[in-house]
Amino acid sequence: MTYMAKDFSNLIGMEGFSETLVKNHFTLYQGYVNNTNKLQELLDSKPKDATNPEYAELKRRFGFEFNGMRLHEYYFENLGGEAPLDKSGTLTKQLADAFGSYDAWEQDFRATGAMRGIGWAILYRDDVTGWLFNQWINEHEVGHLAGCRPILVMDVFEHAFVTDYGLKRADYIEAFFKNINWATVEGRLK
Ligand SMILES: [Fe+2]
Repeated sequence: MTYMAKDFSNLIGMEGFSETLVKNHFTLYQGYVNNTNKLQELLDSKPKDATNPEYAELKRRFGFEFNGMRLHEYYFENLGGEAPLDKSGTLTKQLADAFGSYDAWEQDFRATGAMRGIGWAILYRDDVTGWLFNQWINEHEVGHLAGCRPILVMDVFEHAFVTDYGLKRADYIEAFFKNINWATVEGRLK
């Protein structure tokens, strides 16, 4: 099995994102796809020996590479939007129920993304309770909530913004919000 990288070239030209930044980001994404495939091949070829440190470390590494790949797909897919969020729609209602108001949710999501460190801010929906959470993910694989579905994913690794915004992460988050594909995000609730 070989996983194929998806094409997100429709995002080139987004307001607030230079072509250089977006293309570099695609290259990084391709690296996660390549490494996921490489790790799977290596794991398939190794004896299933738990006492072999090489086998164990390849296993541990898999979560980093796979999630690095998949989270970038969620991220790119929830960008490139042109229409604003429907303020009378299902997502707005659920966010207001969970956080008190849409604005309170947005403030918390932005604060989550502005935290020190590299990783991801993710709005999750718990499929068991229907509850919504804004969660910080360290790097790619630490902090995921079991049984929860990513609804909105924002990359806050420095490579996602430093080219265009230097250390001004809040300005990047502003640009991210201007480009959210809310139709895709709403669709993830179903
Ligand atoms: Fe990234």
